[in-house]
Amino acid sequence: MNIKNVVVIGSGTMGCGIAAQLCNANIPVTLLDLKTEISEKAKKKIFESRPPLLIDKNKIDNIKAGNIDENFDTVKKADWVVEAVVERIDIKHNLYEKILKTRKKDSIISSNTSTIPLKVLSAKMSDKDKKDFCITHFFNPVRYMGLLEIVSETINDAKKINFLKNFCEDSLGKGVIICKDTPGFLGNRVGVYAMQVAMTEAIKMKLSTEEADAIFGRPMGIPKTGVFGLYDLIGIDLMADVLKSFLKELPKSDVFHEVAQEIPLVKNLIETGYTGRKGKGGFYRMNKQKNQKILEAINLETGEYLPSKKIDLGIETVNLTLLINRKDKYGEYAWSVISQIIKYASSLVPGITDKFNDIDEAMRLGFNWAMGPFEMLKSIGVKNFFDRIDSFENNKFLENLSKTKDESFYGERQQYTDIETLGKIKPKAIKVDKNKSAEIYRFKDFNIVEFTTKACALDYDSMDALKNATDKPLIIINESMQFSAGVNLTYTMNFADKGDFKSIEKFIKYFQETCKHLKYSDHPVISAPSGLVLGGGEEVAIQSNFVVSHTNIVMGLVETGVGLVPAGGGCKEVLWRWSQTTEAKEDPDFAPLKVFNIIGYGTTATSTVEAEPLKFLRKEDKKVMNRNSLFEVSKKIIEQNSDFTPPKKCTFKLSGKPLKEKMIKVLEKLYNEKVILDHGMIVGKELANVLSGGDTTIEKTLSEDELYRLELESFMRLIETKETQERIKHTLNTGKLLVN
Ligand code: NAI
Repeated sequence: MNIKNVVVIGSGTMGCGIAAQLCNANIPVTLLDLKTEISEKAKKKIFESRPPLLIDKNKIDNIKAGNIDENFDTVKKADWVVEAVVERIDIKHNLYEKILKTRKKDSIISSNTSTIPLKVLSAKMSDKDKKDFCITHFFNPVRYMGLLEIVSETINDAKKINFLKNFCEDSLGKGVIICKDTPGFLGNRVGVYAMQVAMTEAIKMKLSTEEADAIFGRPMGIPKTGVFGLYDLIGIDLMADVLKSFLKELPKSDVFHEVAQEIPLVKNLIETGYTGRKGKGGFYRMNKQKNQKILEAINLETGEYLPSKKIDLGIETVNLTLLINRKDKYGEYAWSVISQIIKYASSLVPGITDKFNDIDEAMRLGFNWAMGPFEMLKSIGVKNFFDRIDSFENNKFLENLSKTKDESFYGERQQYTDIETLGKIKPKAIKVDKNKSAEIYRFKDFNIVEFTTKACALDYDSMDALKNATDKPLIIINESMQFSAGVNLTYTMNFADKGDFKSIEKFIKYFQETCKHLKYSDHPVISAPSGLVLGGGEEVAIQSNFVVSHTNIVMGLVETGVGLVPAGGGCKEVLWRWSQTTEAKEDPDFAPLKVFNIIGYGTTATSTVEAEPLKFLRKEDKKVMNRNSLFEVSKKIIEQNSDFTPPKKCTFKLSGKPLKEKMIKVLEKLYNEKVILDHGMIVGKELANVLSGGDTTIEKTLSEDELYRLELESFMRLIETKETQERIKHTLNTGKLLVN
């Protein structure tokens, strides 16, 4: 079997996402809809999507658009036909009849349904056709969400399902979990229940919208959209439909019914057009008054909107035990929500899956939770959980566990895949060190560093961990969403606010020293990024000896956006890479001018394909579709480099003042065109200073250390300015960079 040609029917949200991901895997795909205009429009949407659904926009023509009347013949050649049309059984049944009459022998047919059971979808099929038909439930946005649930029945050709699983894992980069044919499968059954518990408990306990989101969010290892923010994102009306479908499918005895009853406030929101972000607003809304945008949150009791309040619980890292033991309403809310989620999820084993571990992984991959319900139970501790829980009737899993009280009940993680993942390795590795920003593991004869801060922001401790871990080959990798969003700006601003610039200088020097160490230590250092690889994060990655990158990265040196220049070796390393090109050999100013542009504009790449031409990644760096494979591929590099020798030191020929003047001319033009403002000019001049080799009048050969020094000096001059400090504060408050 092979999948070389796919037809996707239905070019809406999901059809687009699936077609784009197939295109990302270099598989030719035909996208069919009722009319070609619809699928053509969808193709345009794919091309223009942000965040981009395509890894490489140049590949868009791998997707052919057509309609189900004139282009249905394409089904004849397809190895896999994916149905992603509206959630209407009559439409789906009609389509299957047509597909099954036309399809190639032995091809796979699947539906992307989120609510219709497999047995209902396949009710009218012959047993022979049923063998080749399954549900492939992707999550939106398909490129970025890790989870794919494949729902199959005993009648299915097991070999074929296994083949499809491997294909989706290897080529589409998905975490594929095989599910039983039960309502909502794994992810939505537990995820939607969790959202409903979080919502109903918040209302019952009289928490505000913001308070609930502040708890049912980062402190629980859940994305910061929390519950009400997520409701707004998904669409309050869509959630109401999802709930109706669950209520219809699930027996009355299922406690889902208790948390999914219609809430008058929600009904009113839908009726008045407050359906979430796509509507007039939802639990949150943006109130535009006199050129000012004010974020407001709804009062869950009265339905009135008031300016949203920032809730600071003073929680930096996930610690469930601390959270549920808080002696305030937040602790009470956290316990109530977590315990109900654990109770519900465990009551579903073995009904929805024989492997409880799969539920956890579905929550990680499909909802971006840092841990699933059973890991939450493990984290709280079995004894602690049973000491506090009141009852758990009809729950075989908890009944058994309450007898054994086995704290090590969990076993291996990520059992759904054969890939040797970081998640599987961590419990087997020795934790050799840990500080407040990173953890060092020893596995076999190498080290692993995992950053542990919010967005893996880097500080002194992160550098300390990296430096200490270079006594062996090292893999820098993590399971959280981001490799690193850059240097911890709060950490830096805490010093700046006190006027303690000496400490900032000390930190930057240590950052440089560490990155130099990564590059030149006796053992290979491998960075395995995914997600955000920004600023300092990119500096760590590009000064490692090898990079194994997930194809979904956002990579860039964005320091100018906060009024700074890269100072951890970022300017130096990208300059070095550009100076190795043939153009640079002919024109000594080619590389510095190129890098001036790239860093000056804070250019970011949204995939490995975009990162390579910027020289953020090299041709020889490994690029992988499946995030789960990052560890395995990195480990292989260590095995292949037992005779590793560090790279040769590099030097830079820079033409000094004349080059700097060229750069300043570029800046002046931008200034006159008002592309940059006064402070942008100052930042640009500092960048010019670094990349031209300082104020030398003649061409000069500089060492890496001299470039590090120039970076540091410019950085320090900038961080001391009021304007840069304001830009940093703006970014900390809004999460946005200023471009001018
Ligand atoms: P959508 O409403 O965005 O798109 C459906 C598309 O199907 C439309 O372009 C429509 O013109 C087309 N269509 C309707 N009848 C057709 C026919 N007979 N032949 C060809 N095309 C036809 O829907 P969406 O959201 O993409 O959902 C598609 C499927 O994926 C549904 O089964 C849904 O339950 C499921 N799903 C949706 C998710 C989401 O987040 N939107 C997530 C996971 C699954």
